[in-house]
Amino acid sequence: MDLVNGQGASDELSRLQSHLYKNILSFTDSMSLYCAIQLGIPEIIHNHGQPITLKQLASKLRIHPQKTRCMHRLMRLLVHSGFITKTAPVVHEDQEEEEAYALTASSRVVLVDKVTGLSPLVQAILDPAVVNSWYSLGDWFRGTELTPFVKAHGMGIFDYCNQNPEYGVAFDEGMASDSRLMSKVIKDYKTIFDGLDSLVDVGGGSGTVSRIISEAFPHIKCTVFDLPHVVANLPDDKNLKYVGGDMFQSIPAADAILMKWILHDWSDEECVEILKRCKEAIRSKGKDGKIIIIDVVINEEEEQHDITKAKLFLDALMMILVTGKERTKKEWEKLFLDAGFSHYKIVAPYGLKSLIEVYPNS
Ligand SMILES: C[S@@+](CC[C@H](N)C(=O)[O-])C[C@H]1O[C@@H](n2cnc3c(N)ncnc32)[C@H](O)[C@@H]1O
Repeated sequence: MDLVNGQGASDELSRLQSHLYKNILSFTDSMSLYCAIQLGIPEIIHNHGQPITLKQLASKLRIHPQKTRCMHRLMRLLVHSGFITKTAPVVHEDQEEEEAYALTASSRVVLVDKVTGLSPLVQAILDPAVVNSWYSLGDWFRGTELTPFVKAHGMGIFDYCNQNPEYGVAFDEGMASDSRLMSKVIKDYKTIFDGLDSLVDVGGGSGTVSRIISEAFPHIKCTVFDLPHVVANLPDDKNLKYVGGDMFQSIPAADAILMKWILHDWSDEECVEILKRCKEAIRSKGKDGKIIIIDVVINEEEEQHDITKAKLFLDALMMILVTGKERTKKEWEKLFLDAGFSHYKIVAPYGLKSLIEVYPNS
């Protein structure tokens, strides 16, 4: 079609332009969500206990009087994104009506709930240190730096967390918020812990997952193994202890190794090295243990378009931050075989991630 003079050209041109504008500005969804969390809007609405009017919200947020009129524009965006819903207007004594807002089921579960809420993760992912790295993507493709994050900051993300404690804490809190969901996984898949006396949570951060496991299974000795600066000063507790080290060097011996959101941080070659260290760790106790992996498995053919899209977004985030990637089942299988494991089982999906068990050669 001639998009300047052809018949129906202006409709088609409008459609194409709308598509472009939506793509140019789709960061608006991310940033309005970031702002809502930064201001504490979901918690304020939740604590209000009933639909909140714009005036009530503005007063609780201590909004500058000149900005109050802009609040409804932010709220309108959040309504469009499905995190806020507009309820029937509140009618005041003088019969004046005022629009009111409530949380949606989605925002109650994924933003506010103490166990399933992921607001700290939203803040860690949308921190300027991460978002600014996107501007280095083009130069990174032509250059020699390991990642766009290194190009932008002169160091990798884990060193950055160490040298910028404020972001380090935000990163750990983001990871911990995702890890709290493990309490649900453990409830549903108790049997994966059958027969285990010891478990090492490699790259376990501040220990959220290990704490949940150690409380659910008091007979399992749990070790959180992470970089020394991450676990420094974290106190041991009953059947939970912290050990600092480097998973590329050696991993403490245990019946099982758990790695949640670890291997997607690393290239295939690096993953094979980590998996070999895991294999040494589970074999050194004299019996063949197993590795439990919690990570994304891309399954484009069988999953919904939106799920694949979210996984591809995570894959792009890995390209920005680290040398890793999100993997398909075939790519996971190759890693396991290259590291000398003979079989594996994808036990179940859990959110965007899957639970995978890997066993060494018999
Ligand atoms: C994406 S976070 C995952 C944290 C945790 N497993 C979770 O899901 O909440 C990756 C973790 O790997 C740790 N890590 C990075 N390099 C490491 C290394 N060489 N040895 C041990 N841990 C490492 C980081 O400090 C960080 O805590």
